[in-house]
Amino acid sequence: MFASFAGVWTPLLHLRELRRGPRAVTLAGERLVVFRPPGADVAVLLDRCPHRGAALSLGRVTPQGCIECPFHGWQFDARGRNRHVPLDPDARLSRLSAQALPARVVGDLVWVYTDPSAEAPAEPVVAEGLRAASLARTYVQREWRCHWTRAMENMLDSPHLPFVHRRTIGKAMARQMTAASRMDVRWEATPWGGRASATLDGRDGGAYLEFHRPNVMALHIPVPGRHLRIHALVIPAEPGRTRLIICQSRDFARSRWLNPLFSWMNRRIADEDRAVVESIGSDEVPAAAQQRSVATDRATLQFRKYYFESLRGSASQPRSAG
Ligand code: FES
Ligand SMILES: [Fe+2]
Repeated sequence: MFASFAGVWTPLLHLRELRRGPRAVTLAGERLVVFRPPGADVAVLLDRCPHRGAALSLGRVTPQGCIECPFHGWQFDARGRNRHVPLDPDARLSRLSAQALPARVVGDLVWVYTDPSAEAPAEPVVAEGLRAASLARTYVQREWRCHWTRAMENMLDSPHLPFVHRRTIGKAMARQMTAASRMDVRWEATPWGGRASATLDGRDGGAYLEFHRPNVMALHIPVPGRHLRIHALVIPAEPGRTRLIICQSRDFARSRWLNPLFSWMNRRIADEDRAVVESIGSDEVPAAAQQRSVATDRATLQFRKYYFESLRGSASQPRSAG
C-alpha cells in the first residue's frame, strides 16, 4: 500500500471539503474515505468495506460517529472497529474491522499517516505558517498531470524563477540578471528536511525556502517585521496525477475580503509552473546520475536523494482484521 510513499505524515485535504459529509480522496494510489465523527477530530479509513468492498464514502455518518456502509449497513468507528452488523446479532464484530489510518487535524488541514499498521507514529511536524492560529491563510487547489516528485522538485527549484515567473515572482530577478550572472544555492539540512537559499551575484534578497519531508515547501518572503509565506503541498494521487494545495499565510492585511486577490496571484504563479512541469512527462524523477545537473540544482538534488533513499520502493502493510 502507498507504494513509494509509505510511513510518512502528509497533508490530505482542507477541512472545508468535509462540510457535506464523508469524502473520497485518492492518496498514492489508495482510495480513502475521510469523515468527521461528531465530537471527534477526523477519521480516515480505506474506502473499501471489508464485507463486499463497497465504497464507504457513499455511506453516511451515524449520530454515534460511525460511518455506515451503503451496501448492507455495517458500521465502523473512527478507528475502523466494527460497531454493528445489521440482521446478524451473532456476528463477531472484532473480526470484521475496516482499515483505519492515523489522522490528525492541524491548522485547517487533515493530515494522515501512510501506514495503517502504525498504532502511534510520532506526530506530524507541520510548518509554522500552516498551523499558527494567529495567521490569515488562503488556499488554492490545483491538479497537475505529472508524477508528484516532478512537482515537488519544481517547488524547490530557484533558477527557474526568472524564466517561468518572469512576469510575477521572478520579475526582479529577471531584471537583475545578466549573461554573466551567478546564482549560489545554499542547502542546510534540518531535522525535518532542509532550508535552501540563493544569492544572485552575491546579493541575498532575503527569501528562502524550507523543505518539510516528504512533500511540503514553505517559501519565506521577506517583508520586514511581518510573516508572509507561500506553502506548496504536493500530494500524490495516482501515478501521473498530483494534487496541489497552495497555502499563503500572513500576519497583516488579514481581512478576508483580500483573500480573492491573494488567491488569484497564487493561482497565476502555480499555473505558470504547470505548463512546464507537465511537459516533462508523467514519470517519477530519475536517479541523479541519469541526468545532467549543475550547482544551482543543489536543492532539487537533495530532494532526489531523500526520495531514492527513504521513500522509493517503500510500501506499508495492511493490518490484519481484528
Ligand atoms: S459491502 Fe459493506 S456492508 Fe456489505
Ligand atoms: Fe515555480
